Amino acid sequence: MNILLLGSGGREHALAWKMKQSSKLTKLFIAPGNAGTAEVGENVDINPNDFEAVKAFILSNSINMVVVGPEEPLVRGVKDFILNDPQIAHVPVIGPGKEGAKLEGSKEFAKAFMMRHNIPTAGYLSVTDSNLEEGIAFLKTLKAPYVLKADGLAAGKGVLILDDLAEAESELKQMLSGKFGSASSTVVIEEFLSGIELSVFVLTDGHGYVVLPEAKDYKRIGEGDTGLNTGGMGAISPVPFADDVFMKKVHERIVKPTIEGLAKDNIPYKGFVFIGLMSVEGEPQVIEYNVRMGDPETEVVIPRLKSDLVDLFEAVAAGELRKKTIEIDERSATTVMCVSGGYPEAYEKGKEITGIENIKEGLVFHAGTTRKEGKVITAGGRVIALTAYGSNKDEALKQSFNNAQAINYEGKYFRSDIGFDL
Ligand code: AMP
Ligand code: GLY
Repeated sequence: MNILLLGSGGREHALAWKMKQSSKLTKLFIAPGNAGTAEVGENVDINPNDFEAVKAFILSNSINMVVVGPEEPLVRGVKDFILNDPQIAHVPVIGPGKEGAKLEGSKEFAKAFMMRHNIPTAGYLSVTDSNLEEGIAFLKTLKAPYVLKADGLAAGKGVLILDDLAEAESELKQMLSGKFGSASSTVVIEEFLSGIELSVFVLTDGHGYVVLPEAKDYKRIGEGDTGLNTGGMGAISPVPFADDVFMKKVHERIVKPTIEGLAKDNIPYKGFVFIGLMSVEGEPQVIEYNVRMGDPETEVVIPRLKSDLVDLFEAVAAGELRKKTIEIDERSATTVMCVSGGYPEAYEKGKEITGIENIKEGLVFHAGTTRKEGKVITAGGRVIALTAYGSNKDEALKQSFNNAQAINYEGKYFRSDIGFDL
């Protein structure tokens, strides 16, 4: 089977690395990929949001399956585009269509979905210009801190958590007047949930599903979870507090009603569901849905999956996932992300990366890297993820940190406290 994987981050390198191990794979292409994916497949210079270019590539390279890494092509409707084109409609896509992708693309849609299907989540009100007064009145009923979310995709920046009521009111107005463009013309005001976060990953064909290992990521740039939000600075799987009792609650109260809810709402869904949860005194509540795998969570979740990923994707495409069970590596996996100096604010690219060849234990997943004149150079804020296994998280983390130290480039930074709160 020839597979085209869309995306270019650490998540895509991990997915590509795993698919490469399958005996069912003939050729793997990654669009556009990075210096790491080039070692497990062939990078092709196509923008995943350029659907006509994707189509031309599918036709000229006899692609049998498209796997979508990031959310943007999904929210823009790459699945519907392929499905509605008679020349390529036969090519299965791993990733939901436009309607399913609203679980991530519209916070309001996701909240209404959870309410409709009795899935535990924070109380909320959806606000536009037309009910601003109601929004302000709702804010006054809440206790600080106040959570404001732009309805649409805002490159991970659309969530504000504010301590002061007057500031929350003022930010609400600014959001509605275009602080995040059209993404914030609707704002979801939410109750603040206090607890510890966890990410749960489900692969589904819309009816059957498998629950992948859970993970915890570390979003803030600074040690001790301080400073600006990033795409993710590291991750750990399994998560010690997510014991059998907790995961049973997650399964029964959240995973099952989510998949059944999609079916009841007649939303076909073949792909990943990433459920961001908060454990509030041991009770799981949904913070958000994403319609893809997490990054850097994929860099710990996928290394713990022993089953053949291409075989699972085939079952998803055929609607036969019910027949599958998965095998999980009992070991811990951790990843530490090396980023560019300055990230998540302005940073420089093009720095030569050395030391990768010195890493003997563990896995190196490239994120923002590219190859130029025979050298691997930085090409993004998050540069490279160092994944390691261990019999427990501390053992794995020790190796991840050692490997992060072995990588060199100007301005390198990584958090040396991943896992500190567990
Ligand atoms: P999101 O973009 O929805 O993932 O939100 C970004 C981050 O904001 C989450 O990872 C949480 O840490 C935090 N967050 C979002 N919603 C809430 C909430 N209702 N209560 C507490 N924290 C929240
Ligand atoms: N690491 C969080 C995300 O992928 O959204």
